[in-house]
Amino acid sequence: MRIGVLTGGGDAPGLNAVIRAVVKRAEEYGFEVVGIKRGWAGLLEKVEIVPLKYSEVENIIKDAGTIILTSRTNPLKDPEGIKKVRENIKKLKLDALIAIGGDDTLSVAKKLAEEGEKVIGVPKTIDNDVPGTDFTFGFLTAVEAAMDALDNLKVTGASHERIMVAEVMGRHAGWIAAYSGVASGADLILLPERPFKISDVVEFVKKKKAEGKNSLLIVVAEGALIADYSGPITKDVKKDQFGHVLLGGIGDFLAKEIEKTTGLETRSVILGHVIRGKSPIAFDRVLSTRFGIKAVDLVKEGKFGRMVSLSGTKIIDIDLIEGMKGTRLVDEELLKVIDAFCS
Ligand code: F6P
Repeated sequence: MRIGVLTGGGDAPGLNAVIRAVVKRAEEYGFEVVGIKRGWAGLLEKVEIVPLKYSEVENIIKDAGTIILTSRTNPLKDPEGIKKVRENIKKLKLDALIAIGGDDTLSVAKKLAEEGEKVIGVPKTIDNDVPGTDFTFGFLTAVEAAMDALDNLKVTGASHERIMVAEVMGRHAGWIAAYSGVASGADLILLPERPFKISDVVEFVKKKKAEGKNSLLIVVAEGALIADYSGPITKDVKKDQFGHVLLGGIGDFLAKEIEKTTGLETRSVILGHVIRGKSPIAFDRVLSTRFGIKAVDLVKEGKFGRMVSLSGTKIIDIDLIEGMKGTRLVDEELLKVIDAFCS
């Protein structure tokens, strides 16, 4: 049995831990593992593979990033893309493919599974917005990194009596903003789930100032929507192969508006990619390891077209197609927690 493994989309702390666990379990079963470099690009454009041995990957559990590289290449953009990928799977003599990625990467895995390829999906994204799992690995590590930065921003904001606006990643769902904001005691948390008006933010700042608060921390997700402004604020009009614009800038935009309308000194910071490169925290190392082991067990059992998932405290497998339907948004209960502290 020869298994191919690839990582696609934005990197997430824990990818290497999944690869390590896949290799470990595969060797136990006497399977061979090859890493396909640069996500789907490695099965579509320039095929480059690397044999993976446990003795070589044993110590990568603590490393963020991905040793087999990643890309945002989308074979579905090319009318012949899926055909080419299938041909390469055949040429490489792969008996199974483990695709580790977020909704974009797994949408390609889903298509391949529908066409009969032997594919297993492993959900990943720091955004935590994959619907079929309670948590994606990398998310809590990114939250930890964001929380550390927010704690620091609070200190300097307090010394200077400033309004600090921090922008964090979160395209469709505001999980990182919600968790890091609650964890750092932010005064206001703005999410894609709840479009907001600039005038409401300004009123909030004025109210807090009137109550005697001279410094505030505002956390905003990059994909948060301004109700009286059309569309998300973007850095660039260019789109990636999955049709996503490059987000970024909502924090700066908001900070300027706040300073202009309230006269209060305001600073903004984009935490952006910085929070994606942290060494995975223990939870993510363990979750990634459990996902990797389960993925190979599914290969051994011949249960293809499945996705590994965390359900409560258990690792289960679900239908890859069902598991990718929709987006997992911040839930009502967490929104109420936010409201308890941010009003
Ligand atoms: O992987 C998801 C994500 O972290 C989004 O939150 C963010 O918009 C995007 O990646 C940034 O991607 P890139 O690394 O391609 O700039």
